[in-house]
Amino acid sequence: MTKQPIGIFDSGLGGITVAREIARALPEEPLIYFGDTARCPYGPRDLDEVRRFVLEIGSWLESQDVKLIVIACNTATAAGLALAQQAFEVPVIGVIEPGARAAVMATRNRRVGVIGTVGTIESGAYAKAVRTLDAGVTVFSCATPRYVDIVEEGLRRGSGPVEDLLADTTEVFIRPSFYEISRDYLDPLRRCDVDSLVLGCTHFPLLSTAISQAMGTGVRIISSAEETAREVAETIARRAQRAPEGYAPVRRFVTTGDAHEFERLGSRVWQAPLGTVESVELAELSSLPRPDLIALLDSPGVEPTCA
Ligand code: DGL
Repeated sequence: MTKQPIGIFDSGLGGITVAREIARALPEEPLIYFGDTARCPYGPRDLDEVRRFVLEIGSWLESQDVKLIVIACNTATAAGLALAQQAFEVPVIGVIEPGARAAVMATRNRRVGVIGTVGTIESGAYAKAVRTLDAGVTVFSCATPRYVDIVEEGLRRGSGPVEDLLADTTEVFIRPSFYEISRDYLDPLRRCDVDSLVLGCTHFPLLSTAISQAMGTGVRIISSAEETAREVAETIARRAQRAPEGYAPVRRFVTTGDAHEFERLGSRVWQAPLGTVESVELAELSSLPRPDLIALLDSPGVEPTCA
């Protein structure tokens, strides 16, 4: 048993959809959620740059004595999960493998669609993860970067329950409309006859009602959040690292961006007040990774040999 927190991070607010599921599954666990809003979005960035961010934020979370790190961002998972697993002592869990597993379990016709950022889709990480689980499942992928902007704008401008606001308000301020954008993005996937669609970006669960409407009935919408929470629960249970029974945990929220805005918008995603949001400066973050971790950026995946 341990009272150490679980560290969770994303480029911004989207990963709160994953943190929410983890808190639901593990109500006694302390959490630290880190949103790198000053550098959001990650999706259009070079994956090498995102790998450096993964090392910085992972180092910061390690300095806070976390017992496990969740990369609650598909782009950062695609870019840096393996690197983070090499770099840090604590277990690191990403969101792509859990999402792929949920899709493999859900599909009946073995045709799965995946939408995500340019970085995630171009990495091919979902197709690889699905193939590893079931080589008979075909993955059809499409980058849908405007959905990230729509979520960010929807959160800023909308009001009311966050899961509905995007369907309601996107018609008002998005041009072309959400449904026109979705037709371009999703029609090719519909023509491929997918029966399941993975929301391969942690921002997208906030659009799931609208995306489901655009895909039409009969297509299951899959978010990796629940499956990720299950994996987190199993991992800490296996390591005998659950918080003590009846423990009242502290949940800390940290951002590199505007703390007030993070608190205002993040509370809508968290569905409860976040409380005071802490700030971390980018200059502090960039100084954190040790030289041996920085060296990993140049030699990822090198296997040691026994002479
Ligand atoms: N939340 C990020 C993800 O899951 C996407 C947002 C971004 O581009 O930073 O990929």
